[in-house]
Amino acid sequence: MSSATLATLVNHQVRLAARPVGPVKAGDWQFTEEPVAEPAEGGLVVKTLALSLDPAMRGWMNEGKSYIAPVGIGEVMRAGGVGVVVASKNADFAVGDAVAGAPGVQEYWSVAPDQVKRSGLAKIDLRLGTLTQWLNVLGMPGMTGYFGLMDVGQPKAGETVVVSGAAGAVGQTVGQVAKIKGCRVVGIAGGAAKCEWVVKELGFDACIDYKGGSVRDGLKQHCPDGVDIYFDNVGGEILDTVLTRINRKARIIICGAISQYNNTTAVAGPKNYLSLLVNRARMEGIVVFDYADRYPLAIAEMAGYLKGGRMKSKEDVVEGGVAAFPGTLNKLFTGENFGKLVLKIAD
Ligand SMILES: NC(=O)c1ccc[n+]([C@@H]2O[C@H](COP(=O)([O-])OP(=O)(O)OC[C@H]3O[C@@H](n4cnc5c(N)ncnc54)[C@H](OP(=O)(O)O)[C@@H]3O)[C@@H](O)[C@H]2O)c1
Repeated sequence: MSSATLATLVNHQVRLAARPVGPVKAGDWQFTEEPVAEPAEGGLVVKTLALSLDPAMRGWMNEGKSYIAPVGIGEVMRAGGVGVVVASKNADFAVGDAVAGAPGVQEYWSVAPDQVKRSGLAKIDLRLGTLTQWLNVLGMPGMTGYFGLMDVGQPKAGETVVVSGAAGAVGQTVGQVAKIKGCRVVGIAGGAAKCEWVVKELGFDACIDYKGGSVRDGLKQHCPDGVDIYFDNVGGEILDTVLTRINRKARIIICGAISQYNNTTAVAGPKNYLSLLVNRARMEGIVVFDYADRYPLAIAEMAGYLKGGRMKSKEDVVEGGVAAFPGTLNKLFTGENFGKLVLKIAD
């Protein structure tokens, strides 16, 4: 894109205006716009095509220590995404390259020369998967599910794997990879439609609808030999219930606790943790970024499953650009998303 054309562009952005208390409100956001500047020598400009909307965003809005610094008040909201390079003064990136990275909730991402390597910006190969698959199975949630299951869970063929948030981004990868590795897989999800989908379309052995019945009864019915691996995406009562059904040497993967993210009181910890003692079991957390140097291996493996028809990737793509960001983010906490939640920004 020429300098003259760049100068005509307006970058619409969403910034964090206030730290939310409980569920995020409209007033926690500020909409701004800026001109798009010519990149400096070594830098580039990416046009955002689609953003990844993640439960972790809720945590990034809070003050306090975590695995990553909080988003500052007044800063563009942090977000992963995919886009296309529209201006480049960097020899490693050409105009037209498809890329993934962390553009933030804005239409254009100006990557300063000293940020190109540090920002995690990377070219993506659209022969391996579509743009939105690069935000799902081939992207951050897929890497989380893959390494959480394989590295922390260490599944063996014949074992029983239970995964909550089963129809979501991480959950769909966990269940499908566990099936491919020869495990019996039981999902937990909210609603009959999601449960039917993970069983009929993804090939899970069963799925427990936690909104329509008792998780305890569902586990008794569908995990008659107990639970060897529990991949926990939701925390709270569901974690506590699964803990009552684990086997000796079970592995509990603590990936997230979405049921707790909007709490105004302390996170409810598991009451039944002594089950770990009785069963000589372990509970271990995962942070996906620790596996960044091994992403290419997992991407190659899962792209092979996608191409071979052994794996599916479902994204829930919402239209509306950055203006639709606040309302769309809330869908994660009501369970209105069906599959990986993606906000389309541009064609
Ligand atoms: N540790 C890491 O590195 C890492 C990386 C990525 C994601 N995560 C975590 O992984 C989890 C899943 O993330 P995702 O991106 O795959 O999201 P997702 O599952 O695609 O979407 C969130 C889903 O959570 C479920 N949910 C919402 N409120 C709930 C509640 N109160 N109780 C039970 N389920 C509830 C809803 O599904 P239902 O309709 O089934 O209720 C909703 O669709 C999150 O906890 C996230 O923070 C961790």
